[in-house]
Amino acid sequence: MTDQAADQTPNSVPDTGRRADKPLPGGRSLTYRHPPLVRVSHWLNVIAVVILIMSGLNILLAHPHLYWGIRSTFADPWVSIPTIPNWLLIPQGRNLAEARHWHFFFAWLFVLNGLAYLIYGFVTGRFGRRLWPTLSDLKGFWPSVVEHARFDFPKDDHARTYNVIQKLTYVTMILVILPMMLITGLSMSPGFNAIGGVLLDLMGGRQSARTLHFISAALIVGFIVIHVGLVIWTGLFNNMRAMITGWFVIEPNRPHDGGQS
Ligand code: HEM
Repeated sequence: MTDQAADQTPNSVPDTGRRADKPLPGGRSLTYRHPPLVRVSHWLNVIAVVILIMSGLNILLAHPHLYWGIRSTFADPWVSIPTIPNWLLIPQGRNLAEARHWHFFFAWLFVLNGLAYLIYGFVTGRFGRRLWPTLSDLKGFWPSVVEHARFDFPKDDHARTYNVIQKLTYVTMILVILPMMLITGLSMSPGFNAIGGVLLDLMGGRQSARTLHFISAALIVGFIVIHVGLVIWTGLFNNMRAMITGWFVIEPNRPHDGGQS
């Protein structure tokens, strides 16, 4: 049996960690969903990203205007942030120097943690099995859109794998948006500028890099809002148990017309 098949077949050995399902009363079963490294790195990532955003807002407060190009022409920012509530800032109160310390420390945690997650995912093949959408996943894209529009998500065997929209969103976040945040951030680092400034040229100048860094952070905030909303909607307790202990409850099968992968 392939890992993909194992992923989708009840009472089989799931892909993550090769652990068998545990039967529960009422036809339900516990399936092992997330190996320890994925769980630890997910929560470290949550801490790092939240602190990066809050300290980033404090840094932005030093000059809350964004421009495109090489230099700021104070006269015509493309966007100005009117005000940022104090409770959203790390540290509390406007403090550029301390905010930078927080930002750079947690940027390193974010990078090392992200590398560990990526290396693990690629070396074990988990990334391909669990997150990378297959052709048949992509064919189920529209049914999955309908399912999302109806807020009707399966809890039975169809919930064993991520649906195609979930896969596409996670992969875009992991391979596009989070790296974009990192590269635009690195391109503004004086250390990187000293060794050639190529990255900064690629971004179209310091102000463009700053703007792209802000846009990637805003996309991440948008992702977090929808991600946490869906975690709550599709079963807060079950999803959180899966991301804390690894185990996820599968309900007995029911007729379903959705386009799950
Ligand atoms: C308080 C904030 C967050 C909560 C409560 C949360 C919760 C969860 C839960 C419960 C899952 C498992 C879903 C499932 O098994 O179906 C999950 C998966 C995931 N989350 Fe979050 N999350 C949070 C923030 C974030 C952030 C900030 C990111 C990245 C920017 C992120 C990226 C992901 C990814 C990529 C996965 C899939 C991981 C994999 O299977 O390899 N999450 N999250």
